[in-house]
Amino acid sequence: MKNDLYQLIYLSHSEICGNDSTIREEIEQILAISRQNNRAANITGALMFNRNCFAQVLEGTHHQIQQTFERIQCDPRHSNVAILDFDLTPARRFSEWFMAYVGENSDTRQAFEQIQKTPAFDPHQLMGERIYDLLHTHLHAAENYNL
Ligand SMILES: Cc1cc2nc3c(=O)[nH]c(=O)nc-3n(C[C@H](O)[C@H](O)[C@H](O)COP(=O)(O)O)c2cc1C
Repeated sequence: MKNDLYQLIYLSHSEICGNDSTIREEIEQILAISRQNNRAANITGALMFNRNCFAQVLEGTHHQIQQTFERIQCDPRHSNVAILDFDLTPARRFSEWFMAYVGENSDTRQAFEQIQKTPAFDPHQLMGERIYDLLHTHLHAAENYNL
């Protein structure tokens, strides 16, 4: 059977204003609706909030990712949505999470700063791969991380 498993990763700029508790509430709402919708669409992935940016990985069929991403792109809670990668993948890397969350702490901040600083021939592709790795590495910590 033809493989129809895709991964999409993007970066965006957060437009959520307010203090830490407002930001936290908005992110909780985003995660709640994401987990509900993604479960129904069989989309897995992870969301990171860091240095006023979002990075998100979505995994699923081309059709389901496209439908979900169309909604996400129009969401006024972020802007400058830049796709870093949208391609076939042999297997899910975030198969246990309808939407895992990786929040900001000193480790993830440092890792994300490093990614942003690293020069590359193809910045989008390399950044995509490095963000995948960052999210994957910090997932287990993220599961225990209280928003
Ligand atoms: C950074 C960010 C990530 C989001 N991720 C998802 C997601 O993975 N799945 C999803 O269904 N909605 C996600 N949303 C929420 C959607 O933009 C949208 O509000 C939600 O799907 C409900 O859409 P509807 O009101 O058209 O039904 C995300 C929003 C933001 C700002």
